[in-house]
Amino acid sequence: MTHFRPNSMQARDIAAVLHPQTDLRRHAEIGPSIIGSSNGIWVIDDAGNHFMEGASALWCASLGFANERLAKVAYNAMRTLGYYQLFRHASHRGAIDLCERLLEIAPVPMSKVLLQCSGSEANDTAIKLVWYHWNAQGRPEKRKIISRYGSYHGSTCATVSLTGKPDFHKGFGLPFDGFLYTECPHYYRDRLDDESEEAFSTRMADALEALILREGPDTIGAFWADPVQGAAGALPPPDGYFEKVQAVLRRHDVLLVADEVICGFGRTGNMWGCETYGIVPDIISCAKALSAAMQPISAVLLNERIYQSMLVQSDRLGAFVHGYTYAGHPVAAAVALETLRIYEEMDLANHVKALEPVFLRAFGALANHPLVGEFSGVGLIGGIELVKDKATRTPHSSAVGAMMERNTRERGVILRVVGNRLALSPPLIITASEIEEMAERIRKALDDTLAELLSAQAEETI
Ligand SMILES: Cc1ncc(COP(=O)(O)O)c(C=O)c1O
Repeated sequence: MTHFRPNSMQARDIAAVLHPQTDLRRHAEIGPSIIGSSNGIWVIDDAGNHFMEGASALWCASLGFANERLAKVAYNAMRTLGYYQLFRHASHRGAIDLCERLLEIAPVPMSKVLLQCSGSEANDTAIKLVWYHWNAQGRPEKRKIISRYGSYHGSTCATVSLTGKPDFHKGFGLPFDGFLYTECPHYYRDRLDDESEEAFSTRMADALEALILREGPDTIGAFWADPVQGAAGALPPPDGYFEKVQAVLRRHDVLLVADEVICGFGRTGNMWGCETYGIVPDIISCAKALSAAMQPISAVLLNERIYQSMLVQSDRLGAFVHGYTYAGHPVAAAVALETLRIYEEMDLANHVKALEPVFLRAFGALANHPLVGEFSGVGLIGGIELVKDKATRTPHSSAVGAMMERNTRERGVILRVVGNRLALSPPLIITASEIEEMAERIRKALDDTLAELLSAQAEETI
């Protein structure tokens, strides 16, 4: 157990702060790592250690961790209209400008935008819209929702039910009824011998269709998917996956919701993951890089079909009865709008496309390391799969993932570890030489981990 000085930041944190997604007992023992400042893609802790942020914190800090221009916009917004609401016909310029801009850049024609405060809220609201839609259509039984194992869609009661990770349900008595999960399309891990990506995708789409038929197509309201499955370890879809899945959804009149919370705004080399993979959703949820993570804001974009249903329900019930006090907050909306201007000036999608070959080459080269089974990536997002045996593709345990997390930190890189996968999603302002340097540091961390594993093995055999 580490002992901290009384009144040190660490001791005060342990005494007062409850941390999400954290081993609580271990936290009380080891305390927090306190980040105090930043420089570009680097963050600096209170002991003066510098880290390359390979995960953009939570996939979100697209422009790094400080931004003078966005700070000025927030300051000015707060001086003119620091708060107003959108309830009961009220509006303000920030919300109007932002919603209009989102409709302009949407990957497919969309009709309206509903602003929210977080990715979880956006998905939670979108679940309600799916139900609202089918109720308006006189098909209230069409309310089950299918997502994929391995996907994360949020932490509210409904969005964690949508999340295909049993660990997130245990302990809370969740998921709610009516949330179903289909296969995670992890080609490297789950392909059959000699199965092509296309054939694997067909098998995944068949599994989805079998689930829909088993449950009854009249009971299935929507299918939810993030274009690259972030929480499954930054897993891009196999070839043909979304084309085949969308054919199934069309056959059974199932709505498609694209969770663009991490893929939206350039991450995959296009403005939207939907563009990268030819996805035509009815509803899009987005957040995170929408404001470069500098303000808590998210958005739900919905198409005309959903909007027409909303009109029907609103007529029937007298109003669309849903809303959050801070949804469409003028300061957050102003920062998001300015972020979109910055992206336009950066020519964001082309900027990421230009870096993509450097990123894929630098991290792809790690696949020849003895611990690495594969690297897969797109744009500036990638996953490294740690395996015990390359021939059988047997995954390493999450203990080895945790060892890698510690060793990459020792080598000055922060990344996200999901079981045996290392997920990379650096800020979009990363340079080519920083990509090379990050890959080199991760290679050294892989060497350190291999050495640890070999010495543990040697001890066992003594
Ligand atoms: C794909 C996806 N959807 C939704 C969320 C939830 O977003 P938030 O943490 O802003 O509620 C996340 C968060 O990481 C995410 O990765």
